Amino acid sequence: MQGKPVKSSQTTITELMIPSYANFGGKVHGGILLGLMDKVAYVAASKHCGAYCVTVSVDGVEFKEPVEVGDLISLAASVNYVGNSSMIVGIRVTSLKPKTGEEKHTNSCYFTMVAKDEAGNLVDVPPLILEEKIEVRRFCDAKKLRELRFKIGDILHNETKGLTLEEMSVMIAENRCEVKF
Ligand SMILES: CC(C)(COP(=O)(O)OP(=O)(O)OC[C@H]1O[C@@H](n2cnc3c(N)ncnc32)[C@H](O)[C@@H]1OP(=O)(O)O)[C@@H](O)C(=O)NCCC(=O)NCCS
Repeated sequence: MQGKPVKSSQTTITELMIPSYANFGGKVHGGILLGLMDKVAYVAASKHCGAYCVTVSVDGVEFKEPVEVGDLISLAASVNYVGNSSMIVGIRVTSLKPKTGEEKHTNSCYFTMVAKDEAGNLVDVPPLILEEKIEVRRFCDAKKLRELRFKIGDILHNETKGLTLEEMSVMIAENRCEVKF
């Protein structure tokens, strides 16, 4: 299968934060931003593979500072890594206050997308052609992220499975909870 350069699927979307996006505190709802991230990840991934894609996992989403109504949010997405059917899309989110010109890097996060055909079967995606050192670095980082994600999944799902209630109680003894049964 012929490879595709990273640049051919890079995508940026910009959206104005309107009042209907606000939560009860007057700041933009986190779900609005997550939806935009998912959208731009889909665009970059489907441009790369030319197929329908689904979101499998999300890493690194953090909301360290609130986004305000009136801010312009830009999301720059790039396919950083491809496996067989999966792609890791890196998204850089920036906010701009149009009145002052103040710009902030709000978050960088990673969406794993998988390509499927009409019948819902996994399809192989084209290899990624890396044309710059930064693209090689991002590919390495995403490969590392993928390995860590599987390790974390394993820890979360398996490490505590075989423990007795007593062993788990010792594990959480210093934490702010009470076991009451
Ligand atoms: C993701 C999904 C395709 C995995 O199916 P599966 O039968 O377990 O298939 P595989 O184990 O072969 O995984 C397929 C690919 O997904 C990757 N993958 C699976 N689970 C993953 C996870 N939790 N995180 C990251 N990647 C994952 C695998 O590494 C593999 O990548 P590769 O083909 O590049 O090697 C399946 O669980 C699915 O369809 N989920 C629903 C996704 C969806 O509908 N999202 C929208 C939600 S509204």
